Parts: sequence; structure tokens; C-alpha cells
Amino acid sequence: MDFFADTAEVSELRQLAGLGLLDGVTTNPSLIAKSGRKMAEVIAEICAITSGPVSAEVVSTATEAVVAEGKALAAIAPNVVVKVPLTEDGLAACRAFVASGIKVNVTLCFSLVQAIVAAKSGASYISPFVGRLDDINLDGMRLIRDIREAYDVQRYTTKILAASMRSANHMGEAAKAGADAVTAPAAVLRGLTRHPLTDAGLAKFMSDWTAAQR
Ligand code: E4P
Repeated sequence: MDFFADTAEVSELRQLAGLGLLDGVTTNPSLIAKSGRKMAEVIAEICAITSGPVSAEVVSTATEAVVAEGKALAAIAPNVVVKVPLTEDGLAACRAFVASGIKVNVTLCFSLVQAIVAAKSGASYISPFVGRLDDINLDGMRLIRDIREAYDVQRYTTKILAASMRSANHMGEAAKAGADAVTAPAAVLRGLTRHPLTDAGLAKFMSDWTAAQR
């Protein structure tokens, strides 16, 4: 399972790359706006940090405008994946991108049938939002399991990119559910190695070792 970082903060991405925890990056308009920087400038800088897929999301909504915007984003670097919303216009643009050899991440997926139409449109990635389903008391991880089952039965090759991951526990469950990749904030990725019993156990080993040296 690939680990993607869901952030537009380049300092966080450099740290994750140094730790070997960065297989790719996802961004969205909220994250780019939070960075306070221009979309093209941030995406170019991120693509210089990782050679993995970097999702850059369009802010247009009508097909023709999405296609024009997405082509400009794809021209920034060879590892850009154009991210489009799961709408009729977004999927029409997805088919146009696929015809031009541009990879697409279809985002804002909240149901199995949405994931199926995205696969039929040739998406490279489908992004089901686990945390946002959990937020409204639905079972986000159930959607990952359902998409995995349907994609396997139908032999769709679209990769399942479990998104809106809010915790280390989410990431473990996504791995069990068969996600091809997960995307999470840097803080969640940095928390994956942590366990209070590891910290306590290490402190005890060190104090026993130090005492024995006296
Ligand atoms: C995915 O591509 C999205 O950018 C992201 O995972 C959304 O996460 P959130 O629901 O925590 O905002």
C-alpha cells in the first residue's frame, strides 16, 4: 500500500521524504489556499521533492474549462495526476484526459456506484473519503471494502486511494480493506511508528543498560 501525504506544505513533505514515508502527494483547493501560494508554483515544488504521483486538483467545474485547466496542470511535471470532482463534467473531462495520456484522480467519492462510473471513465485513482463518511455516522471503511470487491470482480484497474484518513487506525484498516494507497495529513503519517509501550519499553532498556555500566 502506498503512502501519500495530503498536504501542500513543502517542509512537511521534505521531512516525510527523508523518513521514507512519501510515495506520492495529494492536494486540494483547500490545502493550496491554506499554503497561501500559487497553485502552479506549489505543484512544481512538490514535484521536485517526489517522483511519485502528485495530485493537483482543478477548480473549474464545466468540462471544457476542466480540460483546459487540467492540461495546464499536467504540463507542470510528468508526475502530475489531474484531480477532478466526481461529477458528470468531471468524468467527461476524465475521459478526455485519458485519451491524451494524462492520469486522473477522481475525488469526492462517497458511494460504490460513483466509484464504478469513475473506473469506467478510465480514472487511474478513485478517492473515497473515509473520514467524511464517518463524520456523518456512516461506515467509511465499508466503502473501501465494497469498492475493492467490485473492482476485483469486474477487473477494473483503477487504484483505490483511501482519502480523508484521520488516524493511524484508519490506515491499518484501509490496508486490511485492500486499498492500493492511502492519503493522510503529515501528522497522521508521522504518528504511524508511535506507541506508548514502545516509548516506555525503550526508556526501561536504556535505564537498565546505563545502571549496569556503573
Ligand atoms: C483527498 O484527496 C483529500 O484531499 C483529503 O483526503 C480530504 O481529507 P479531509 O476530509 O480530512 O479534508
